[in-house]
Amino acid sequence: MSTFYILLAGSLLAALLFRTFCPYLWRDLRVTLRMFGFGLKFSSYGRRKPPVTLVDVFLQKVQKWPDKPFVVFEGRVLTYSELDRLSNKLGRAVQARAGLRQGDCVAILLGNQPLFVALWLGLAKLGCPVAFLNYNIRGKSLLHCFQRSGAQVLIAGSDLRSSVEEVLPALREENITVFILDDKCTTEGIESLNDTIQAASDQPLPLSLRSHVTFSTPFVYIYTSGTTGLPKAAIITHSRGHRIAFFIAACGLSSSDIIYITLPLYHSAGSLIGICGCIALGATVVLRRKFSASQFWDDCRTYNVTVIQYIGEVLRYLCNVPKKSSDRDHQVKIAVGNGARADVWKEFLNRFGDIQVCEFYGATEGNVGFMNYVGKIGALGRVTFLTRKTMPFYLIKYDVEQEVPVRDAKGHCIEVAKGEAGLLIGKITRTTPFAGYAGNAILTEKKHLRDVFCKGDLYFNSGDLLKLDHDNFIYFQDRIGDTFRWKGENVSTSEVADVLLMLEFVKEACVYGVAVPGHEGRIGMAAIQLPSGEDLDGAQLYEHVAAHLPNYARPRFLREQTRIETTGTFKHYKVMLVKEGFNPATVQDSLFILDDQKRTYARMDQGIYNSIISKQVKL
Ligand SMILES: *[C@@H]1O[C@H](CO)[C@@H](O)[C@H](O)[C@H]1NC(C)=O
Ligand SMILES: *[C@@H]1O[C@H](CO)[C@@H](O)[C@H](O)[C@H]1NC(C)=O
Ligand SMILES: *[C@@H]1O[C@H](CO)[C@@H](O)[C@H](O)[C@H]1NC(C)=O
Ligand SMILES: *[C@@H]1O[C@H](CO)[C@@H](O)[C@H](O)[C@H]1NC(C)=O
Repeated sequence: MSTFYILLAGSLLAALLFRTFCPYLWRDLRVTLRMFGFGLKFSSYGRRKPPVTLVDVFLQKVQKWPDKPFVVFEGRVLTYSELDRLSNKLGRAVQARAGLRQGDCVAILLGNQPLFVALWLGLAKLGCPVAFLNYNIRGKSLLHCFQRSGAQVLIAGSDLRSSVEEVLPALREENITVFILDDKCTTEGIESLNDTIQAASDQPLPLSLRSHVTFSTPFVYIYTSGTTGLPKAAIITHSRGHRIAFFIAACGLSSSDIIYITLPLYHSAGSLIGICGCIALGATVVLRRKFSASQFWDDCRTYNVTVIQYIGEVLRYLCNVPKKSSDRDHQVKIAVGNGARADVWKEFLNRFGDIQVCEFYGATEGNVGFMNYVGKIGALGRVTFLTRKTMPFYLIKYDVEQEVPVRDAKGHCIEVAKGEAGLLIGKITRTTPFAGYAGNAILTEKKHLRDVFCKGDLYFNSGDLLKLDHDNFIYFQDRIGDTFRWKGENVSTSEVADVLLMLEFVKEACVYGVAVPGHEGRIGMAAIQLPSGEDLDGAQLYEHVAAHLPNYARPRFLREQTRIETTGTFKHYKVMLVKEGFNPATVQDSLFILDDQKRTYARMDQGIYNSIISKQVKL
């Protein structure tokens, strides 16, 4: 009898110790098992000739659940088989009019709507990669993005005709075929496609049309903006498509889930994690044209949404909506996304209830990714033995000022210790490839890091500084170029922005460093957006900044803007701000300067600017 009690006490103690010292073991194991299952499936898909792509996975679901809702949009439901047939019609119509061959890229310029998904799948059924153009960009940028894809065909939504018309002369010079999804179009050089679509058969497109597709041929091109320059077209191969689509399954979702997508489909979060993730599961998506904070939870209730997708701003905007008694009345159990700041994350949970925030990290084009599946606040991922085995990555010492990795006497990079921030690099191997950017070998080479730990080795340079803690959680520190150095100190722009955003009256903030003639480094500057109609309370802002930031990190200059770009083209925008600097003669917005004597942010004029340049005013 006593042996029994000793055993019982022993096992209880063991369980307690286990929970205390390995609190994440079960969850680690569960995710590891899911990854293992995916790995098996993935390699069996890859062994087939031609391989099983996401299009084939979609067709499997159509067979299995023809009448299951696939996309719900503005109250209208499209089932798996309805969307399948629509995609056949679209594929056939484009095929008939443009005479596409396998491998020919087609660029699409469309807002969030079911047609986006149908057109994409229809083209994929023809073996054609699809370039997702960002519908917010226009003119030269749009033309640049289109040209990068190498496409000979552009298909645009009817609401985007004016964007197309702006670049039409250049497109016509290159003999590009331009279609619009409209009943008719009178503009010369733009052909309407609707008649052909309506007349086209909805019968399946034969597999032979995509017989040359392999795991390493492009599936889609997605534009990513670096810290400098114009957007780059990241090549997403079919194999990478599978991997990204698996993401949402790794969070523990199933075919009964309903995923709410408000993010633009031209980014990988909406299209690859959202739509492809849904296809891989055989689940349902509720698609919205645009994110709306006020409609968000009503939609979740109406459509019984169980999974939401976010970027950092989404969570903040949701928390900014006035509290309602119905805040916890919903069935959302998981939020998948990235960029959640710890404070907003906590507030979000407090307010909207027990939702598992599944934060992840992974550049669209990168070969490394992390996921925080245990809901540890602030962390973007968890690193286990398996992560390291399947995805060899390192955090290496980085010189923020020179903007190069630190190398030792032998010329090798140096791994940072736990708890220290380092540049994330991922070894490029057969199983963790980096497909690069379409039509630009130079940009691709720029993301390569060579001779890292030994001569001839090759890594993908993520451009991000991350930190691994002693519990194996990984945290975002900074994006390279998002740090500036002033008075010998490193200042993280996101850190300063977070402090500014604590203030009620700062709606948006974008922080950066600007060069001052005759000074080393860059001095802090911020573009801020105030609620419309309000004037800046310089004194309050000063007191807040002085209370929360060291002297060197305080933004010395402010520019007030009516709108701050936080999504899509954000990095671009920042580069523009840095270039414009703080000269009232060139900056159109109101400018302010931090005034330590008067303890306020005072209006800045040309006189002040001149005395800074002539060094009469010390910074
Ligand atoms: C476009 O087509 C015209 C006529 O067929 C041809 O002369 C011209 O070289 C083409 N231009 C390009 C850039 O292919
Ligand atoms: C035809 O054009 C209209 C826009 O006028 C669009 O809303 C509709 O979806 C198009 N139909 C098809 C089948 O593409
Ligand atoms: C949501 O769930 C409720 C209860 O299960 C059900 O009555 C309702 O029809 C569902 N709504 C939709 C749009 O599926
Ligand atoms: C700033 O960053 C550089 C490069 O990472 C580092 O060597 C230096 O110690 C940092 N300085 C401070 C004050 O943290």
